[in-house]
Amino acid sequence: MIAAEHLTKSYGSWILFDRISFKINPKERVGLVGRNGHGKTTLFRIILGQEDYDGGVLSIPKNYRFGHVAQQLEFVEDTTLAEGMRGLPANEKDHRWKVEKILAGLGFSDRQMQSRPEILSGGFQVRLNLAKTLVSEPDLLLLDEPTNYLDITSIRWVQRFLSDWPRELILITHDRGFMDGVVTHTMGIHRKKVRKIAGNTGKYYAQIAQEEEIHEKTRIKDERKRQEVEQFITRFRAKARLAGLVQSRIKTLSKKQKTEKLEKIRDLEFSFNYRSFRSKQLLSVNELSFAYPGQNPLFHDLDFSVHSADRICVVGPNGKGKTTLLKLLAGKLVPQSGDVTYHPDAAVGFYEQTNVHSLQDSFTVAQEVQLSLGDGDYQKARNICGAMLFEGDDALKKIAVLSGGEKARVILGKVIALPVNLLLLDEPTNHLDMESADALLAAIDAFDGAVILVTHNEKCTCMHWLTGSSFLKKIR
Ligand SMILES: Nc1ncnc2c1ncn2[C@@H]1O[C@H](COP(=O)(O)OP(=O)(O)OP(=O)(O)O)[C@@H](O)[C@H]1O
Ligand SMILES: [Mg+2]
Repeated sequence: MIAAEHLTKSYGSWILFDRISFKINPKERVGLVGRNGHGKTTLFRIILGQEDYDGGVLSIPKNYRFGHVAQQLEFVEDTTLAEGMRGLPANEKDHRWKVEKILAGLGFSDRQMQSRPEILSGGFQVRLNLAKTLVSEPDLLLLDEPTNYLDITSIRWVQRFLSDWPRELILITHDRGFMDGVVTHTMGIHRKKVRKIAGNTGKYYAQIAQEEEIHEKTRIKDERKRQEVEQFITRFRAKARLAGLVQSRIKTLSKKQKTEKLEKIRDLEFSFNYRSFRSKQLLSVNELSFAYPGQNPLFHDLDFSVHSADRICVVGPNGKGKTTLLKLLAGKLVPQSGDVTYHPDAAVGFYEQTNVHSLQDSFTVAQEVQLSLGDGDYQKARNICGAMLFEGDDALKKIAVLSGGEKARVILGKVIALPVNLLLLDEPTNHLDMESADALLAAIDAFDGAVILVTHNEKCTCMHWLTGSSFLKKIR
Protein backbone atom coordinates (compact mmCIF):
# COMPACT_ATOMS: atom_id res chain seq x y z
CA MET A 1 0.00 0.00 0.00
CA ILE A 2 1.26 3.48 -0.74
CA ALA A 3 -0.12 6.71 0.66
CA ALA A 4 0.35 10.32 -0.36
CA GLU A 5 -0.52 13.14 1.95
CA HIS A 6 -0.69 16.79 0.91
CA LEU A 7 1.66 16.13 -1.96
CA THR A 8 2.49 19.25 -3.97
CA LYS A 9 4.36 19.58 -7.23
CA SER A 10 5.01 22.52 -9.50
CA TYR A 11 7.33 23.56 -12.28
CA GLY A 12 8.24 27.19 -11.72
CA SER A 13 4.99 29.03 -11.19
CA TRP A 14 2.94 26.28 -12.85
CA ILE A 15 1.28 24.14 -10.19
CA LEU A 16 0.60 20.59 -11.30
CA PHE A 17 -1.04 19.41 -8.10
CA ASP A 18 -1.70 21.15 -4.87
CA ARG A 19 -1.73 19.21 -1.57
CA ILE A 20 -3.19 16.02 -2.96
CA SER A 21 -3.83 12.98 -0.79
CA PHE A 22 -4.67 9.42 -1.81
CA LYS A 23 -4.02 5.79 -0.92
CA ILE A 24 -3.52 2.76 -3.10
CA ASN A 25 -4.78 -0.15 -1.02
CA PRO A 26 -3.85 -3.82 -1.42
CA LYS A 27 -5.10 -5.41 -4.63
CA GLU A 28 -6.55 -2.23 -6.03
CA ARG A 29 -6.28 -1.73 -9.75
CA VAL A 30 -6.45 1.99 -10.22
CA GLY A 31 -6.97 3.84 -13.50
CA LEU A 32 -5.23 7.22 -13.50
CA VAL A 33 -6.92 9.73 -15.80
CA GLY A 34 -6.59 13.41 -16.58
CA ARG A 35 -6.02 15.80 -19.43
CA ASN A 36 -2.75 15.96 -21.36
CA GLY A 37 -0.10 17.74 -19.34
CA HIS A 38 -1.98 17.56 -16.05
CA GLY A 39 0.75 15.52 -14.40
CA LYS A 40 -0.04 11.80 -14.67
CA THR A 41 3.41 10.81 -15.84
CA THR A 42 4.95 13.19 -13.32
CA LEU A 43 3.02 11.47 -10.53
CA PHE A 44 4.41 8.11 -11.71
CA ARG A 45 7.91 9.53 -11.70
CA ILE A 46 7.41 10.85 -8.18
CA ILE A 47 6.17 7.45 -6.96
CA LEU A 48 9.19 5.79 -8.61
CA GLY A 49 11.54 8.26 -6.95
CA GLN A 50 12.69 9.67 -10.29
CA GLU A 51 11.32 13.12 -9.60
CA ASP A 52 11.24 15.35 -6.52
CA TYR A 53 8.13 16.90 -5.09
CA ASP A 54 7.77 20.24 -3.36
CA GLY A 55 5.85 19.32 -0.25
CA GLY A 56 3.84 16.66 1.57
CA VAL A 57 4.61 13.06 2.36
CA LEU A 58 4.71 9.93 0.27
CA SER A 59 4.78 6.74 2.35
CA ILE A 60 5.98 3.52 0.79
CA PRO A 61 6.32 0.29 2.81
CA LYS A 62 9.74 -1.27 3.22
CA ASN A 63 10.75 -3.73 0.50
CA TYR A 64 7.77 -2.73 -1.59
CA ARG A 65 8.65 -3.43 -5.23
CA PHE A 66 7.63 -1.28 -8.17
CA GLY A 67 7.37 -2.46 -11.74
CA HIS A 68 7.45 -0.08 -14.67
CA VAL A 69 8.42 -0.32 -18.32
CA ALA A 70 11.93 0.96 -18.86
CA GLN A 71 12.37 3.57 -21.57
CA GLN A 72 15.88 2.47 -22.49
CA LEU A 73 16.08 -0.21 -25.12
CA GLU A 74 19.29 -1.87 -24.02
CA PHE A 75 19.56 -5.62 -23.95
CA VAL A 76 22.33 -7.96 -22.85
CA GLU A 77 21.16 -11.48 -23.75
CA ASP A 78 21.47 -13.25 -27.10
CA THR A 79 17.82 -14.09 -27.48
CA THR A 80 14.59 -12.29 -26.77
CA LEU A 81 13.43 -15.17 -24.57
CA ALA A 82 16.61 -15.09 -22.47
CA GLU A 83 16.29 -11.32 -22.16
CA GLY A 84 12.70 -11.73 -21.00
CA MET A 85 13.82 -14.27 -18.38
CA ARG A 86 16.03 -11.64 -16.80
CA GLY A 87 12.82 -10.11 -15.49
CA LEU A 88 11.94 -13.21 -13.43
CA PRO A 89 12.19 -12.86 -9.65
CA ALA A 90 15.19 -14.53 -7.99
CA ASN A 91 13.24 -17.60 -6.83
CA GLU A 92 11.74 -18.28 -10.27
CA LYS A 93 14.77 -17.90 -12.49
CA ASP A 94 13.96 -21.15 -14.33
CA HIS A 95 10.30 -20.34 -15.04
CA ARG A 96 10.85 -20.16 -18.76
CA TRP A 97 7.25 -21.15 -19.53
CA LYS A 98 6.02 -18.06 -17.78
CA VAL A 99 8.07 -15.78 -19.98
CA GLU A 100 7.08 -17.71 -23.11
CA LYS A 101 3.42 -17.35 -22.24
CA ILE A 102 3.68 -13.61 -21.73
CA LEU A 103 5.80 -13.02 -24.83
CA ALA A 104 3.31 -15.04 -26.89
CA GLY A 105 0.45 -13.00 -25.45
CA LEU A 106 2.26 -9.84 -26.46
CA GLY A 107 2.43 -11.08 -30.03
CA PHE A 108 5.97 -12.52 -30.22
CA SER A 109 6.35 -15.44 -32.62
CA ASP A 110 8.59 -18.40 -31.74
CA ARG A 111 11.10 -17.06 -34.21
CA GLN A 112 11.14 -13.63 -32.60
CA MET A 113 11.65 -15.25 -29.17
CA GLN A 114 14.78 -16.94 -30.49
CA SER A 115 16.09 -13.89 -32.34
CA ARG A 116 18.40 -11.22 -30.97
CA PRO A 117 16.46 -8.51 -29.15
CA GLU A 118 18.28 -5.75 -31.06
CA ILE A 119 16.77 -6.73 -34.40
CA LEU A 120 13.19 -6.45 -33.14
CA SER A 121 11.20 -3.42 -34.33
CA GLY A 122 11.08 -0.49 -31.91
CA GLY A 123 7.56 -1.38 -30.84
CA PHE A 124 8.56 -4.96 -30.05
CA GLN A 125 11.58 -3.82 -28.07
CA VAL A 126 9.30 -1.81 -25.80
CA ARG A 127 7.02 -4.84 -25.56
CA LEU A 128 9.98 -6.93 -24.48
CA ASN A 129 10.53 -4.44 -21.66
CA LEU A 130 6.84 -4.76 -20.81
CA ALA A 131 7.20 -8.56 -20.71
CA LYS A 132 10.18 -8.26 -18.35
CA THR A 133 8.11 -6.06 -16.05
CA LEU A 134 5.06 -8.34 -16.11
CA VAL A 135 7.05 -11.48 -15.24
CA SER A 136 8.86 -9.73 -12.39
CA GLU A 137 5.74 -9.76 -10.17
CA PRO A 138 6.13 -6.36 -8.56
CA ASP A 139 3.87 -5.26 -5.69
CA LEU A 140 2.78 -2.22 -7.62
CA LEU A 141 2.73 -2.25 -11.38
CA LEU A 142 2.81 1.19 -13.01
CA LEU A 143 1.84 1.28 -16.68
CA ASP A 144 1.95 4.53 -18.63
CA GLU A 145 -0.08 4.32 -21.86
CA PRO A 146 0.80 0.74 -22.84
CA THR A 147 -1.67 0.74 -25.73
CA ASN A 148 0.55 3.16 -27.64
CA TYR A 149 2.97 0.37 -28.51
CA LEU A 150 0.52 -2.53 -28.77
CA ASP A 151 -1.80 -3.65 -31.54
CA ILE A 152 -5.44 -4.62 -31.15
CA THR A 153 -4.77 -8.32 -30.52
CA SER A 154 -2.13 -7.78 -27.88
CA ILE A 155 -4.17 -4.97 -26.28
CA ARG A 156 -6.96 -7.48 -25.70
CA TRP A 157 -4.51 -9.98 -24.26
CA VAL A 158 -2.95 -7.38 -21.92
CA GLN A 159 -6.43 -6.30 -20.85
CA ARG A 160 -7.29 -9.87 -19.81
CA PHE A 161 -3.91 -10.31 -18.14
CA LEU A 162 -4.26 -7.11 -16.12
CA SER A 163 -7.82 -7.80 -15.07
CA ASP A 164 -6.41 -10.83 -13.21
CA TRP A 165 -3.50 -8.89 -11.75
CA PRO A 166 -3.33 -10.09 -8.13
CA ARG A 167 -1.55 -7.13 -6.55
CA GLU A 168 -1.65 -3.34 -6.98
CA LEU A 169 -1.75 -1.62 -10.32
CA ILE A 170 -1.92 1.97 -11.52
CA LEU A 171 -2.71 2.27 -15.19
CA ILE A 172 -2.58 5.40 -17.34
CA THR A 173 -4.34 5.23 -20.67
CA HIS A 174 -6.58 7.49 -22.72
CA ASP A 175 -8.39 4.39 -24.00
CA ARG A 176 -11.45 4.22 -21.78
CA GLY A 177 -12.62 0.84 -23.03
CA PHE A 178 -9.29 -0.70 -22.15
CA MET A 179 -9.18 1.10 -18.81
CA ASP A 180 -12.67 0.06 -17.79
CA GLY A 181 -11.90 -3.56 -18.63
CA VAL A 182 -9.12 -3.57 -16.07
CA VAL A 183 -9.64 -1.26 -13.13
CA THR A 184 -11.43 -1.50 -9.81
CA HIS A 185 -10.94 2.19 -9.04
CA THR A 186 -10.53 5.41 -10.97
CA MET A 187 -8.33 8.25 -9.86
CA GLY A 188 -8.16 11.52 -11.73
CA ILE A 189 -6.01 14.62 -11.69
CA HIS A 190 -8.43 17.46 -12.19
CA ARG A 191 -8.08 21.15 -11.39
CA LYS A 192 -4.79 20.44 -9.58
CA LYS A 193 -6.41 17.97 -7.18
CA VAL A 194 -6.91 14.23 -7.25
CA ARG A 195 -10.02 12.31 -6.54
CA LYS A 196 -10.30 8.58 -6.31
CA ILE A 197 -13.51 6.61 -6.53
CA ALA A 198 -14.46 2.94 -6.58
CA GLY A 199 -15.68 2.17 -10.07
CA ASN A 200 -14.87 2.87 -13.67
CA THR A 201 -14.18 6.01 -15.69
CA GLY A 202 -17.86 6.46 -16.57
CA LYS A 203 -18.72 6.82 -12.91
CA TYR A 204 -15.75 9.12 -12.32
CA TYR A 205 -16.62 11.52 -15.14
CA ALA A 206 -20.31 11.49 -14.21
CA GLN A 207 -19.42 12.39 -10.65
CA ILE A 208 -17.21 15.28 -11.70
CA ALA A 209 -19.84 16.58 -14.08
CA GLN A 210 -22.47 16.41 -11.38
CA GLU A 211 -20.31 18.12 -8.75
CA GLU A 212 -19.36 20.89 -11.12
CA GLU A 213 -22.97 21.42 -12.06
CA ILE A 214 -23.91 21.69 -8.39
CA HIS A 215 -20.98 24.03 -7.80
CA GLU A 216 -22.14 26.28 -10.62
CA LYS A 217 -25.78 26.28 -9.44
CA THR A 218 -24.72 27.09 -5.90
CA ARG A 219 -22.50 29.85 -7.16
CA ILE A 220 -25.33 31.45 -9.13
CA LYS A 221 -27.70 31.16 -6.16
CA ASP A 222 -25.12 32.64 -3.78
CA GLU A 223 -24.40 35.43 -6.20
CA ARG A 224 -28.10 36.31 -6.41
CA LYS A 225 -28.40 36.31 -2.61
CA ARG A 226 -25.33 38.47 -2.29
CA GLN A 227 -26.81 40.99 -4.69
CA GLU A 228 -30.06 41.07 -2.71
CA VAL A 229 -28.19 41.73 0.52
CA GLU A 230 -26.09 44.41 -1.16
CA GLN A 231 -29.21 46.10 -2.45
CA PHE A 232 -30.73 45.96 1.03
CA ILE A 233 -27.61 47.57 2.48
CA THR A 234 -27.51 50.42 -0.04
CA ARG A 235 -31.20 51.02 0.30
CA PHE A 236 -31.38 51.21 4.07
CA ARG A 237 -27.92 52.39 5.01
CA ALA A 238 -29.16 55.92 5.66
CA LYS A 239 -32.09 54.80 7.82
CA ALA A 240 -31.14 55.09 11.49
CA ARG A 241 -34.00 52.80 12.47
CA LEU A 242 -32.46 49.91 10.49
CA ALA A 243 -28.82 50.58 11.34
CA GLY A 244 -28.41 47.41 13.43
CA LEU A 245 -29.93 45.25 10.74
CA VAL A 246 -27.76 46.82 8.06
CA GLN A 247 -24.63 46.33 10.17
CA SER A 248 -25.38 42.67 10.73
CA ARG A 249 -26.00 42.13 7.01
CA ILE A 250 -22.67 43.77 6.20
CA LYS A 251 -21.04 41.42 8.66
CA THR A 252 -22.62 38.28 7.24
CA LEU A 253 -21.71 39.36 3.76
CA SER A 254 -18.08 39.91 4.60
CA LYS A 255 -17.93 36.56 6.38
CA LYS A 256 -19.51 34.57 3.61
CA GLN A 257 -16.98 32.95 1.35
CA LYS A 258 -17.48 33.66 -2.28
CA THR A 259 -17.92 30.57 -4.45
CA GLU A 260 -15.53 31.11 -7.32
CA LYS A 261 -16.53 30.48 -10.89
CA LEU A 262 -14.79 27.35 -12.17
CA GLU A 263 -12.15 28.17 -14.68
CA LYS A 264 -13.05 26.96 -18.13
CA ILE A 265 -10.83 24.13 -19.33
CA ARG A 266 -10.17 24.84 -22.99
CA ASP A 267 -10.65 22.10 -25.54
CA LEU A 268 -8.56 21.64 -28.62
CA GLU A 269 -10.34 22.98 -31.68
CA PHE A 270 -8.70 23.30 -35.04
CA SER A 271 -8.99 22.47 -38.71
CA PHE A 272 -6.52 21.27 -41.27
CA ASN A 273 -5.45 23.69 -43.94
CA TYR A 274 -6.74 22.58 -47.37
CA ARG A 275 -5.02 23.36 -50.63
CA SER A 276 -7.44 22.99 -53.47
CA PHE A 277 -6.93 20.11 -55.84
CA ARG A 278 -8.94 19.88 -59.03
CA SER A 279 -7.83 16.61 -60.59
CA LYS A 280 -9.03 13.17 -59.68
CA GLN A 281 -5.95 11.17 -58.86
CA LEU A 282 -3.52 12.44 -56.25
CA LEU A 283 -1.11 9.61 -56.02
CA SER A 284 -0.33 6.31 -57.63
CA VAL A 285 1.87 3.57 -56.28
CA ASN A 286 3.28 1.02 -58.69
CA GLU A 287 4.98 -2.27 -57.93
CA LEU A 288 6.38 -0.92 -54.72
CA SER A 289 8.73 -3.23 -52.81
CA PHE A 290 10.57 -2.62 -49.62
CA ALA A 291 12.72 -4.48 -47.10
CA TYR A 292 15.00 -3.20 -44.37
CA PRO A 293 18.63 -4.32 -44.88
CA GLY A 294 19.08 -8.01 -44.16
CA GLN A 295 15.39 -8.65 -43.48
CA ASN A 296 12.43 -10.19 -45.21
CA PRO A 297 10.50 -7.89 -47.54
CA LEU A 298 7.66 -6.06 -45.80
CA PHE A 299 5.79 -5.80 -49.07
CA HIS A 300 6.44 -6.31 -52.70
CA ASP A 301 4.70 -5.25 -55.88
CA LEU A 302 2.22 -3.08 -54.09
CA ASP A 303 -0.17 -1.26 -56.43
CA PHE A 304 -2.81 1.24 -55.50
CA SER A 305 -3.94 4.74 -56.22
CA VAL A 306 -5.37 7.50 -54.06
CA HIS A 307 -8.09 9.88 -55.22
CA SER A 308 -8.70 13.41 -54.10
CA ALA A 309 -11.16 12.71 -51.29
CA ASP A 310 -10.32 9.12 -50.29
CA ARG A 311 -10.33 8.16 -46.65
CA ILE A 312 -8.02 5.23 -46.21
CA CYS A 313 -7.32 3.34 -43.05
CA VAL A 314 -4.23 1.13 -42.97
CA VAL A 315 -4.62 -1.80 -40.61
CA GLY A 316 -2.40 -4.70 -39.60
CA PRO A 317 -0.39 -5.98 -36.63
CA ASN A 318 2.66 -4.12 -35.39
CA GLY A 319 5.89 -4.64 -37.21
CA LYS A 320 4.19 -5.41 -40.55
CA GLY A 321 5.16 -2.13 -42.11
CA LYS A 322 2.36 0.38 -41.63
CA THR A 323 4.70 3.15 -40.52
CA THR A 324 7.19 2.10 -43.21
CA LEU A 325 4.52 2.45 -45.86
CA LEU A 326 3.67 5.99 -44.75
CA LYS A 327 7.36 6.88 -44.74
CA LEU A 328 7.71 5.57 -48.28
CA LEU A 329 4.71 7.63 -49.36
CA ALA A 330 6.16 10.68 -47.65
CA GLY A 331 9.48 10.16 -49.39
CA LYS A 332 11.36 9.61 -46.13
CA LEU A 333 12.41 6.14 -47.27
CA VAL A 334 13.49 4.97 -50.70
CA PRO A 335 11.89 1.79 -52.07
CA GLN A 336 14.00 -1.06 -53.44
CA SER A 337 11.87 -1.03 -56.54
CA GLY A 338 8.68 0.46 -57.86
CA ASP A 339 7.58 4.03 -57.52
CA VAL A 340 5.37 6.52 -55.76
CA THR A 341 4.09 9.14 -58.18
CA TYR A 342 2.34 12.29 -57.04
CA HIS A 343 0.23 14.65 -59.12
CA PRO A 344 2.17 17.95 -59.54
CA ASP A 345 -0.48 19.78 -57.49
CA ALA A 346 -0.39 17.32 -54.60
CA ALA A 347 0.70 18.72 -51.24
CA VAL A 348 1.32 16.28 -48.39
CA GLY A 349 1.06 16.77 -44.64
CA PHE A 350 2.82 14.04 -42.68
CA TYR A 351 2.08 13.35 -39.02
CA GLU A 352 4.87 11.12 -37.77
CA GLN A 353 4.52 9.15 -34.57
CA THR A 354 5.68 11.03 -31.50
CA ASN A 355 8.37 8.45 -30.76
CA VAL A 356 10.09 9.11 -34.08
CA HIS A 357 12.00 12.10 -32.70
CA SER A 358 10.83 14.38 -35.44
CA LEU A 359 10.98 17.21 -32.90
CA GLN A 360 14.13 18.79 -31.54
CA ASP A 361 14.42 18.78 -27.76
CA SER A 362 16.21 22.12 -27.57
CA PHE A 363 13.59 24.00 -29.62
CA THR A 364 10.59 25.78 -28.17
CA VAL A 365 7.08 24.91 -29.28
CA ALA A 366 6.91 28.18 -31.25
CA GLN A 367 10.23 27.53 -32.98
CA GLU A 368 9.13 24.06 -34.08
CA VAL A 369 5.94 25.44 -35.61
CA GLN A 370 7.79 28.35 -37.19
CA LEU A 371 10.18 25.88 -38.81
CA SER A 372 7.27 24.24 -40.63
CA LEU A 373 5.86 27.52 -41.85
CA GLY A 374 8.68 27.99 -44.34
CA ASP A 375 8.30 31.76 -44.49
CA GLY A 376 9.09 31.82 -40.76
CA ASP A 377 6.30 34.21 -39.77
CA TYR A 378 6.62 34.25 -35.96
CA GLN A 379 3.22 35.75 -35.20
CA LYS A 380 1.56 33.15 -37.38
CA ALA A 381 3.49 30.46 -35.52
CA ARG A 382 2.26 31.86 -32.20
CA ASN A 383 -1.32 31.83 -33.46
CA ILE A 384 -1.01 28.16 -34.38
CA CYS A 385 0.49 27.47 -30.95
CA GLY A 386 -2.55 29.14 -29.39
CA ALA A 387 -4.89 26.96 -31.42
CA MET A 388 -2.92 23.94 -30.20
CA LEU A 389 -3.49 25.05 -26.57
CA PHE A 390 -0.03 26.54 -26.07
CA GLU A 391 -1.12 29.99 -25.08
CA GLY A 392 1.16 32.79 -23.90
CA ASP A 393 4.37 31.54 -22.32
CA ASP A 394 3.41 27.92 -22.93
CA ALA A 395 4.54 28.44 -26.53
CA LEU A 396 8.03 29.10 -25.15
CA LYS A 397 8.28 25.70 -23.46
CA LYS A 398 11.10 23.50 -24.65
CA ILE A 399 10.14 20.31 -26.49
CA ALA A 400 12.26 18.31 -24.00
CA VAL A 401 9.88 18.96 -21.10
CA LEU A 402 6.61 18.34 -22.94
CA SER A 403 4.28 15.48 -22.05
CA GLY A 404 3.35 12.89 -24.68
CA GLY A 405 0.07 14.58 -25.50
CA GLU A 406 1.68 18.00 -25.70
CA LYS A 407 4.23 16.67 -28.21
CA ALA A 408 1.41 15.22 -30.27
CA ARG A 409 -0.19 18.67 -30.35
CA VAL A 410 3.07 20.24 -31.56
CA ILE A 411 3.28 17.75 -34.42
CA LEU A 412 -0.32 18.54 -35.32
CA GLY A 413 0.52 22.24 -35.22
CA LYS A 414 3.32 21.61 -37.70
CA VAL A 415 0.94 19.77 -40.01
CA ILE A 416 -1.72 22.50 -39.99
CA ALA A 417 0.91 25.18 -40.68
CA LEU A 418 0.78 24.58 -44.42
CA PRO A 419 -2.08 23.95 -46.87
CA VAL A 420 -2.20 20.33 -48.03
CA ASN A 421 -4.50 18.00 -49.93
CA LEU A 422 -3.24 14.67 -48.64
CA LEU A 423 -2.76 13.85 -44.98
CA LEU A 424 -0.56 10.93 -43.96
CA LEU A 425 -1.33 10.31 -40.32
CA ASP A 426 0.52 7.71 -38.26
CA GLU A 427 -1.33 6.90 -35.03
CA PRO A 428 -2.25 10.54 -34.45
CA THR A 429 -4.61 9.83 -31.54
CA ASN A 430 -1.88 8.12 -29.49
CA HIS A 431 -1.13 10.23 -26.40
CA LEU A 432 -4.07 12.58 -26.99
CA ASP A 433 -6.61 12.87 -24.21
CA MET A 434 -10.21 12.00 -24.96
CA GLU A 435 -11.31 15.54 -25.74
CA SER A 436 -8.34 16.23 -28.02
CA ALA A 437 -8.73 12.92 -29.86
CA ASP A 438 -12.35 13.85 -30.56
CA ALA A 439 -11.25 17.27 -31.86
CA LEU A 440 -8.74 15.58 -34.16
CA LEU A 441 -11.32 13.17 -35.52
CA ALA A 442 -13.67 16.09 -36.19
CA ALA A 443 -10.88 17.92 -38.05
CA ILE A 444 -10.12 14.84 -40.18
CA ASP A 445 -13.80 14.52 -40.91
CA ALA A 446 -14.06 18.16 -42.02
CA PHE A 447 -10.93 18.03 -44.20
CA ASP A 448 -11.70 18.26 -47.92
CA GLY A 449 -8.64 16.38 -49.13
CA ALA A 450 -7.55 12.75 -48.93
CA VAL A 451 -6.45 10.99 -45.77
CA ILE A 452 -4.34 7.90 -45.19
CA LEU A 453 -4.53 6.94 -41.56
CA VAL A 454 -2.71 4.34 -39.49
CA THR A 455 -4.57 3.82 -36.25
CA HIS A 456 -5.76 1.28 -33.76
CA ASN A 457 -8.33 3.71 -32.41
CA GLU A 458 -11.64 2.01 -33.05
CA LYS A 459 -13.44 5.33 -33.18
CA CYS A 460 -11.73 6.13 -36.47
CA THR A 461 -14.14 4.99 -39.08
CA CYS A 462 -12.82 4.01 -42.44
CA MET A 463 -14.89 5.34 -45.26
CA HIS A 464 -12.87 3.92 -48.08
CA TRP A 465 -10.46 1.02 -48.08
CA LEU A 466 -7.40 0.85 -50.21
CA THR A 467 -8.20 -0.40 -53.69
CA GLY A 468 -8.59 -4.13 -53.87
CA SER A 469 -7.99 -6.65 -51.18
CA SER A 470 -4.55 -7.48 -52.54
CA PHE A 471 -2.99 -4.58 -50.71
CA LEU A 472 -4.67 -5.41 -47.45
CA LYS A 473 -3.63 -9.02 -47.72
CA LYS A 474 -0.06 -8.03 -48.29
CA ILE A 475 0.15 -5.73 -45.35
CA ARG A 476 -1.54 -8.18 -43.01
N1 LIG B 1 11.23 19.80 -16.29
C1 LIG B 1 10.09 20.42 -16.57
N2 LIG B 1 10.03 21.76 -16.60
C2 LIG B 1 8.89 22.40 -16.89
N3 LIG B 1 7.73 21.79 -17.14
C3 LIG B 1 7.72 20.46 -17.13
C4 LIG B 1 8.89 19.70 -16.84
N4 LIG B 1 8.58 18.40 -16.91
C5 LIG B 1 7.26 18.35 -17.20
N5 LIG B 1 6.74 19.58 -17.33
C6 LIG B 1 5.34 19.93 -17.63
O1 LIG B 1 4.52 19.33 -16.64
C7 LIG B 1 3.26 19.00 -17.19
C8 LIG B 1 2.89 17.59 -16.80
O2 LIG B 1 3.56 16.65 -17.57
P1 LIG B 1 3.19 15.10 -17.53
O3 LIG B 1 4.11 14.40 -18.47
O4 LIG B 1 3.18 14.63 -16.13
O5 LIG B 1 1.69 15.10 -18.09
P2 LIG B 1 0.71 13.90 -18.37
O6 LIG B 1 -0.50 14.06 -17.53
O7 LIG B 1 1.43 12.61 -18.27
O8 LIG B 1 0.28 14.21 -19.88
P3 LIG B 1 0.01 13.22 -21.14
O9 LIG B 1 -1.40 12.76 -21.02
O10 LIG B 1 0.15 14.12 -22.32
O11 LIG B 1 1.02 12.15 -21.10
C9 LIG B 1 3.38 19.25 -18.69
O12 LIG B 1 2.74 20.47 -19.00
C10 LIG B 1 4.87 19.36 -18.95
O13 LIG B 1 5.15 20.23 -20.02
MG1 LIG C 1 2.03 11.14 -19.69
